[in-house]
Amino acid sequence: MHADIQNVFTPALAISSADRFAGRQEQLDHISQALQSDGTQIVIYGNRGVGKSSLARQLEGLARGDMTVIDRLRMPPHVTPDFLVISIECDDTIDSIQTLILRLLTDDAALAPWIPFRVEKTSAGSEVGGSLNVKIFSASAKLSDGTSAERPQIEQDLYSVFGNAISHILESGVVGGVLFIIDEVDRIKNRDDLASIIRSRGADPRVKFCLVGVGTTPQELILKHESIVRQLSDGCVEMPPMSKSELREIFVRAHEVLRDDGIVFSPEAQEWIISIARGHPFYVHLLGKHSLIHAVMSGATEVTLSMAKEVLANIANKGTATVQETTYQKAIGHSFTREFIVKTFAAEPTEEISTSSVYPRISQGRKMDISAISVYVGQLVTDKYGAILEKTRERHYRFKDSLFKAYADARPYKLKVEQVEDGE
Ligand SMILES: Nc1ncnc2c1ncn2[C@@H]1O[C@H](COP(=O)(O)OP(=O)(O)O)[C@@H](O)[C@H]1O
Ligand SMILES: [Mg+2]
Repeated sequence: MHADIQNVFTPALAISSADRFAGRQEQLDHISQALQSDGTQIVIYGNRGVGKSSLARQLEGLARGDMTVIDRLRMPPHVTPDFLVISIECDDTIDSIQTLILRLLTDDAALAPWIPFRVEKTSAGSEVGGSLNVKIFSASAKLSDGTSAERPQIEQDLYSVFGNAISHILESGVVGGVLFIIDEVDRIKNRDDLASIIRSRGADPRVKFCLVGVGTTPQELILKHESIVRQLSDGCVEMPPMSKSELREIFVRAHEVLRDDGIVFSPEAQEWIISIARGHPFYVHLLGKHSLIHAVMSGATEVTLSMAKEVLANIANKGTATVQETTYQKAIGHSFTREFIVKTFAAEPTEEISTSSVYPRISQGRKMDISAISVYVGQLVTDKYGAILEKTRERHYRFKDSLFKAYADARPYKLKVEQVEDGE
């Protein structure tokens, strides 16, 4: 069967199918254990583009008892899990935990089809004591004309309605438990109450929460976590960058899909793409996808190193990686010196970058003194230049986004030395 070339790699999508999910053995085993441990809640945290959502998708399969995921575990679960899984991806319209719960209760893809009542937000002004009240409508007995009437009920506290909804599902006995997977938690501006929804039902072993988001620590995701430290103690799954051998597995799996087409990535192309990715599967998918298309369009059966390199240059110039490229252009502006500095910082192998290691090289490369360099570096911390860097301590910086760091390192220079400086 011929492969669907456009979707052998999926840079825009988390991996759902276990067949396409590479590596991450330790993390898979960890989420499985956390899912089976009574009272333990799960937090998946790490940098952008490392594969958090993809791991959450595997958890979803596992919780539903999907054997393709279970077969990957080193220790299969004692009993096959049978959870109702409610997954939600937070966006900017979810600005607080109350909005999140309201969404969970009212969305057709969430709890709404599972509960015998309908929830509605009350008009503004009914927020008493910081807790939102909602109206609930229960479908009452059928009317004589065959339609069913909705009986409005008194206002109730949002949190108790949420608790009742969960109880209702559990009591119905159709599922063994309920797992809420809440992705992109970091996008919720006010998430002070996050701990309280976990605390509300977290003691019931049949109710599980999995919080997923960008953060270097679980505390960064769950701001007021003190009250649930115990529930999180062995359920925090850190997503480090993927190792080279894990990233290689993405090609192994892609080659399986491409077998009937007889198309392969040359070993050099694979190794180069893996080195560019710096642990982010996102770039393996992005470069893999576009190099593959390039090869097919030119009638080749091997994706070569030079094709991959050409594709990266095109991605930078045509803006395929728009988010990263836009940030790059904002950071460098029209200054070759600033571009040189960004690239020198990005080339550092460590996450935290010491100025004592990069400044001498910049100073030599651009014939400038340290105080001039630090002016430019200071700019890169400010919003005007995209705030790509942050100061971690005296004389140390880090890129806020490691995905961007990998991009800035890999992208060819945009400006030329001769270009007139913008004088900033
Ligand atoms: N284990 C994996 N195997 C193969 N591809 C992966 C894996 N994890 C992530 N990816 C791919 O990497 C990219 C980023 O993954 P995603 O799960 O969306 O990351 P995050 O949620 O951390 O930003 C996507 O293109 C996804 O398909
Ligand atoms: Mg994600």
